[in-house]
Amino acid sequence: MKRTLSTLVILVALGALVCAQGGTKPAVPAGGNSMGPNGLTVPPQTPAPAVAWMDIAKTPPMGWNSWNKFGCNVSDTLIREIADALVTSGMKNAGYQYVVIDDCWQVSRDAQGRIVPDPQRFPNGMKALADYVHAKGLKFGLYSDAGARTCEGRPGSNGYEAVDAQQYAAWGVDYLKYDWCSSDGVDPKIAYATMRNALGATGRPILFSMCEWGRNKPWEWARGVAHIWRSTGDISDRWPSFTRLLDLQVDLWKFSGPGGWNDPDMLEVGNGGMTIAEYRAHFTMWAMLAAPLIAGNDVRTMTPEIRAMLTHKEVVAIDQDPLGKQARLIRKDGDYEVWARRLQGGDWAIALLNRGRDAHEIGVAWLELGMGATAAPKVRDVWAGSDLGAITGLFAATVPSHDVVLVRITP
Ligand code: GLA
Repeated sequence: MKRTLSTLVILVALGALVCAQGGTKPAVPAGGNSMGPNGLTVPPQTPAPAVAWMDIAKTPPMGWNSWNKFGCNVSDTLIREIADALVTSGMKNAGYQYVVIDDCWQVSRDAQGRIVPDPQRFPNGMKALADYVHAKGLKFGLYSDAGARTCEGRPGSNGYEAVDAQQYAAWGVDYLKYDWCSSDGVDPKIAYATMRNALGATGRPILFSMCEWGRNKPWEWARGVAHIWRSTGDISDRWPSFTRLLDLQVDLWKFSGPGGWNDPDMLEVGNGGMTIAEYRAHFTMWAMLAAPLIAGNDVRTMTPEIRAMLTHKEVVAIDQDPLGKQARLIRKDGDYEVWARRLQGGDWAIALLNRGRDAHEIGVAWLELGMGATAAPKVRDVWAGSDLGAITGLFAATVPSHDVVLVRITP
C-alpha cells in the first residue's frame, strides 16, 4: 500500500506521464481500394461488395474457434452442437458471432485441385454445415495456410488461393484464418495479399485473419491486407503464457484500430488451466487491448461462472468500443501494472493488474490520464458492478494475486 501510494504522490508531484492516446496511425485505405498497402495492385472487385472491406472489422471480431480446446478433433456434430450452445448460452447475444473450424477439417485436393473436407468427420459437406450455422444467426469460418501445408500437415493454399477462395465463398464462408506453417521461401507480404485479393475477388465479405505469429512485424504492414493479424506465437492455457503474450502488446497500441487489429491469440478462458481470477485477468486484458474475442472453450459444458465472464456486457463493451483504442501500459511498478484506454464519449477504462504472488494495493492518479489534479470523475467498478461515486485525485484498490480490478471512469 505504502509503496503504491508513494509512487502516486511522486507522479502527482511530477505531473508527468500523461497518457494522451491517439498517435499516428498508418494510412487506412478505403474499401474497394485499388492499391494495397505494399504497392501491390488489388484488382477491382466485381461485383462491388455489399460491405466495404474495412467495415468487416469496424470492431474486433468475436466468435469461437475449435483449436484451443479440440485441436484436430473437429466434426460436423461438434460444430453444430457448438453453434446451438452459442445461442442457448447467451454467447451469441453477447456478440460472439463467428464459428470457426481451425486446422484438420481438410484432407486432400481432388483432380481439379479443389480442397476436400474430411468425409468421415464432415459427411454432410461444408455447405450444409455453413447453412446450419447461418440458420442460427451465426457466421461460419474456416482455416488454411499460406504455405504448402497447414501446421497439422493438411493441404495449404499456396498456389491454390483463387480456387480456395472461390470454394469458400460458394460454401458460405464468412471468416478465414490463414496460418504460416511450411512457409519457407514464401514472402508474407505477397502471400497474404494474394489471398486477400482472392477473397476480395469473390465479392463475398470474408473476414481475413492473418496468423503469421508476428514473425515479420505484421502490425507495420498488415492494415489493409488483413482484418486481424496475430502479433504473437500460440497461447497456452497457463498464466505465464498469458503474461508473455500481454508483454508483447505493450508497444503495439498505435497499430490497432477500426478495420485492422492486433491479435494476441484466442481466449483460453474456461479451458481449466488457470484459476477464475487468472481468467478474469486474461479476459479483462484482452478487452483492454481491443483484441479479437475468440472463445476457445467448450461452450456446451461451461460453468455459469465462465459463461458470466465471457458474456459480461460491460467488459465486452470495452473491447468493442467504437473508438478502437488499444490500451497502453501507463505505469509498471514491478508486478503491478496500470493499463488505460480511452473510450468513445470521453470515458476511460483502467485495469489494475497484479502479476505478483500476494494481494497488493495498486492505484492510478487522474493526472496520469491528463486530468487536472482537482478532477473528480465518476468511477465504476466493472466486475463488481458497483458505482463508487465521484472520486478526487486518485483511485486505489487492493488487487488479489494474479487478478485485476477494472474500472470505468467518466470525467
Ligand atoms: C498454428 C496456429 C494455431 C493453430 C494451429 C493449428 O500453431 O498458430 O492458432 O491454428 O496452428 O495447427
